[in-house]
Amino acid sequence: MNTKLENILNETLNLLNYVYETKVIKSNVDGVDFQCDDAFKLAKLYHKAPFMIAEEVVNKLKASENFNDYFKEVSVAKPGFINLIVSDKLINESLTELMQKDKLGATKENETIVIDYGGPNVAKPLHVGHLRTAIIGQAINNILKFKGNKTIGDVHLGDIGAQMGQVIYGILHDFPNTKYEDIEFDLNYLNVTYPKMSALCKENEEVRKECAEITKKLQEGDPNYHILWKKIYDLSVNDIKRIYDYLDVHFDYWYGESDAYKQFPEMMNYLDKQPCVRIDNGAKIIDVKEETDKVDIPPCLIQKSDGAYLYATSDLGTIWQRKKDFNPDEIIYVVDARQSMYFTQVFRAAKKTHIYDGKLVHYGNGTVNGKDNKPFKTRTGGALKLEDLIKEVKQEFVNLRQENQNMDREDLDKIVVSILKFADLQNDLTRNYIFDIKKFSEVNGKTGPYILYTYLRINKLLTSNDGKLSENIYNDIDRNLRLKLLEVSSIIDEAAKERRPHIIASYLYDLAVIANNFYQANHMADLEGQIKNDYDIILTYNNVVLKTLLELLGIHIPKTM
Ligand code: ARG
Repeated sequence: MNTKLENILNETLNLLNYVYETKVIKSNVDGVDFQCDDAFKLAKLYHKAPFMIAEEVVNKLKASENFNDYFKEVSVAKPGFINLIVSDKLINESLTELMQKDKLGATKENETIVIDYGGPNVAKPLHVGHLRTAIIGQAINNILKFKGNKTIGDVHLGDIGAQMGQVIYGILHDFPNTKYEDIEFDLNYLNVTYPKMSALCKENEEVRKECAEITKKLQEGDPNYHILWKKIYDLSVNDIKRIYDYLDVHFDYWYGESDAYKQFPEMMNYLDKQPCVRIDNGAKIIDVKEETDKVDIPPCLIQKSDGAYLYATSDLGTIWQRKKDFNPDEIIYVVDARQSMYFTQVFRAAKKTHIYDGKLVHYGNGTVNGKDNKPFKTRTGGALKLEDLIKEVKQEFVNLRQENQNMDREDLDKIVVSILKFADLQNDLTRNYIFDIKKFSEVNGKTGPYILYTYLRINKLLTSNDGKLSENIYNDIDRNLRLKLLEVSSIIDEAAKERRPHIIASYLYDLAVIANNFYQANHMADLEGQIKNDYDIILTYNNVVLKTLLELLGIHIPKTM
């Protein structure tokens, strides 16, 4: 519901002498537009039966001055709901007003928010496990920016962890007696070397130790290892960027854990003076347990007894840097839900040490699962490369119809991205979902292509109009569509407030279904005069809403499909 309509409804009810914060919600009862269930709460307050209160409210409402302007019918439904059917006039006026509003009527915000998403590890190719954080993080970024916030997207690369030492070890063995500067390798080499080394470290304790030693030296700034590190970094990050670009996932900063390391001297110096930081068996830890905890929250380990830093240290260092550079109101992390304990520790450590006193929130995303409902794996048991998933989706869509084979490349890519993103974003971010390529690629059903197709189909029907909506509403489907469009402002507001892109995705699907019904029931080509003008306005607006919301989800409309 847009704000004007909402205000009118709420204020009308509030006019009545029951002083209460009335809340009218969209009704799911057939033929009823809105419903108010406050009589139940009021009943307790005034010691009267809800039904009696509801009747009193309705009677007063009916006697009020603007009643006929705003309402078609207001009634009480047992045991005390107030059902409201609003007037066509109110719907049309609200719609006209909404169409003129900036940002589809969403309320403005003005915060500085860092969004940490993506989080890939350098030297390893992106895999299916990286899909959700990228898609959801980007959507949250788009939504918050649309609302007027200053958003700062940071990819937070894992660029100085164990895998780097392992790959460097592999390189040193493959290129013996070569000066570091002269060692040359390509992405293929990297893609082979990392899994090879990772497997070797699992079975060979000696090698594992040597690799860990290299990693530690690298973290301490060894200039020779840094030469190789840079070569690995450039190749890998280039490749990661290519895939993110394809998915229209973009970051303002490509900082990595290695950048956090630069903050350590300053930060550790500060931390050493904090009373809650202590040494335990030679390791530096921060106790983060709280009395109200229902589960045991272990201390946050920030330096091992051998001097090495950890994942948590780099996150604290990153918070330190973000505070210094951006002074944000909030830092949001879109990271796999399985890291939630870890983030509890880090956030508490940051708060207790006052590294950062603003808001820190982890939105833990669920996993993309295979048919067995376990995190997606290839037939051989490995993680499916994101690039291979993209290829599979593209193949699936191309195979669907003859025409798809000759489709414009750019259009095809937009559709592929819509398949991936809509499949993902229609689920609450905390949920896991099963990736069913076939189902998600269909042009029918709750899919990206369905919404895109609806948009394009309607676009073809549009001619021209004078922008002035008449007072009429012609039938129930028409009324439905107009009422649905009026919800858009609050949908965006809610999605932003909850940081839940799926709220927009479900609305988009519902709207597309109604819009489809609308044009199928009303043959635009056969219409003329006022009704045609009105319908053209409604459908034009419908497409503005579809397009704007799709873009918030990071989905773009192809020229044809
Ligand atoms: N690279 C990490 C991993 O693969 C994810 C990083 C998430 N972001 C963060 N600030 N910790 O698990």
